[in-house]
Amino acid sequence: MKGIVLAGGTGSRLFPLTKITNKHLLPIYDKPMIYYPIQTLVDAGIADIMVVTGGKNSGDFLRLLANGKGFGLKHIAYTYQEGEGGIADALNLCEHFADGQKICVVLGDNIIEKNIRGAVEAFRQQDKGGRILLKEVTDAERFGVAEFQGDHIVGIEEKPAEPKSNYAVTGIYMYDETVFDKIRTLKPSNRNELEITDVNNAYIREGTMTFSFLDGWWTDAGTFESLLRAANLVAQSRGVQAVYA
Ligand code: G1P
Repeated sequence: MKGIVLAGGTGSRLFPLTKITNKHLLPIYDKPMIYYPIQTLVDAGIADIMVVTGGKNSGDFLRLLANGKGFGLKHIAYTYQEGEGGIADALNLCEHFADGQKICVVLGDNIIEKNIRGAVEAFRQQDKGGRILLKEVTDAERFGVAEFQGDHIVGIEEKPAEPKSNYAVTGIYMYDETVFDKIRTLKPSNRNELEITDVNNAYIREGTMTFSFLDGWWTDAGTFESLLRAANLVAQSRGVQAVYA
């Protein structure tokens, strides 16, 4: 299985922090944000990784990560997203890299406490389709939200005003090689992006989407509040008390 970290976008919700740098280069406690999703993939046993960047600071990723030696990797592949086409548009750039294999995609601002080895192993055994990781949250309206009938996911709504469950779809997605055909059928959403939620709904309609629940804490880091929370969660998990004064 190949790994993909999506680290493009303008980071507009973090302006002016992102005026002169990419969101994924900002610090989360003692490391740049992008280190965490890369480590998530490495910890899951995935060593063939592509980073999708964009914007003015894309060259900084190469200087920061180089060939991935700091993660025990031999090589990292890079590609460049032009413009602001959304998560599915960024993923679309990885078809050549995926080369017909299954992929595990992690959004560059998603940080987790534990590891996803079990879910990745389950997806290795799954003969086709996709797999998403869900997490129970108290602010589901900020995320893609799963709708269940019994034990089955019947749909995902992107940032619904009235969520149909408390289960957020985390930014960790596993797909088979048909994901690129599915992306080609998408139409831009109201925010003029190709939405990853529409990709996931295509798998759900096809009846091939499975899910796992994520262990431990999970946070994104794309707003001031979540950026601060991410730093505090990482620090606390290293045994550091939060500093408020
Ligand atoms: C994106 C996805 C959303 C998902 C979230 C996880 O939201 O669109 O479905 O729950 O990542 O971090 P965005 O960060 O684009 O607001």
